[in-house]
Amino acid sequence: MQDLEGKVAFITGGGSGVALGQAKVFAEEARMKVVIADIRRDHLDEAMGYFSRKGLPVHPIYLDITDRDAYARAADEAERVLGPVQLLCNTAGVSQFGPVESATYDDWDWQLDVNLKGMINGVQTFMPRMIQRGAGGHIVNTASMSAFVALPNTAIYCTTKYAVRGLSESLRVELEKYRIGVSVLCPGGVNTNIHESVLSRPDRYGRTGYYGADPEVFKRLKSVIESGFDPVDLARIVLAAVRRNDFWILPYPEFVPTLEQYNAKVIAALRQYESDPDYERRKKLGRPMPGAQ
Ligand SMILES: NC(=O)c1ccc[n+]([C@@H]2O[C@H](COP(=O)([O-])OP(=O)(O)OC[C@H]3O[C@@H](n4cnc5c(N)ncnc54)[C@H](O)[C@@H]3O)[C@@H](O)[C@H]2O)c1
Repeated sequence: MQDLEGKVAFITGGGSGVALGQAKVFAEEARMKVVIADIRRDHLDEAMGYFSRKGLPVHPIYLDITDRDAYARAADEAERVLGPVQLLCNTAGVSQFGPVESATYDDWDWQLDVNLKGMINGVQTFMPRMIQRGAGGHIVNTASMSAFVALPNTAIYCTTKYAVRGLSESLRVELEKYRIGVSVLCPGGVNTNIHESVLSRPDRYGRTGYYGADPEVFKRLKSVIESGFDPVDLARIVLAAVRRNDFWILPYPEFVPTLEQYNAKVIAALRQYESDPDYERRKKLGRPMPGAQ
């Protein structure tokens, strides 16, 4: 999407962090109209203090992205107040880390519901509206470098982010025909409030095998991300990628060696079977699987 001025962006998690950075850059620098949707009213209020002072066309909506009916109502409200949504930023996400063997079903459900199913709800809500209008659009999904690298204590988060990568790659190949671009943003570290994610964990996910609102844990988690990107600087990179219709937004070259090793291991695992008789048989048939060459 080249010409963003005056168009409408809908940004989930827009009250804080990565998403708030996106709201600032899309409203101030791309001169878009922006909806920020968030489950934390205090985050929305604080963000609106900033946008109101600057007189920017930003509209806050209280939304739990796991609630499908509420999501449809939020989309209606966004369109009524600002106009048709052409840029969807599925940015809201949560994290809670710990050993996989300590996880409860509620631990799994919360992160899967927000990070993956909440994103699917965004796609299911806005994709048909974009297709029906026939004016194209763009979707930016926020994954993580945890969409590529499985570290100890990150199993649930990592599962959601690998899935977000798969979802994004699939949307990219399927939505091109509607002139809807898709990008996936994979941050390494960003200086946000994600260390305090558990504060937005609803009571219905009551049983946890992990930590709660523990200031010591928050301090430790913050120390990992505070040297990361500033959300506004990261959002400028996202803006440029949307304008160029880039799929990958990976501004963390420090991960190159890790990914080179990962890819080399996958290729080696495939090559190991080059002399397998069934491979020979399939080659002779001359009918490669879709995606294979
Ligand atoms: N901060 C990092 O280092 C980092 C690294 C990689 C990926 N990410 C990803 O960036 C995205 C944004 O996270 P952040 O770091 O800005 O965290 P953040 O906590 O600062 O912001 C996330 C926002 O999402 C909101 N939110 C949580 N659950 C919600 C729900 N059910 N419905 C609506 N809003 C909800 C929160 O209230 C919060 O305002 C996430 O997807 C996260 O996984 C962050």
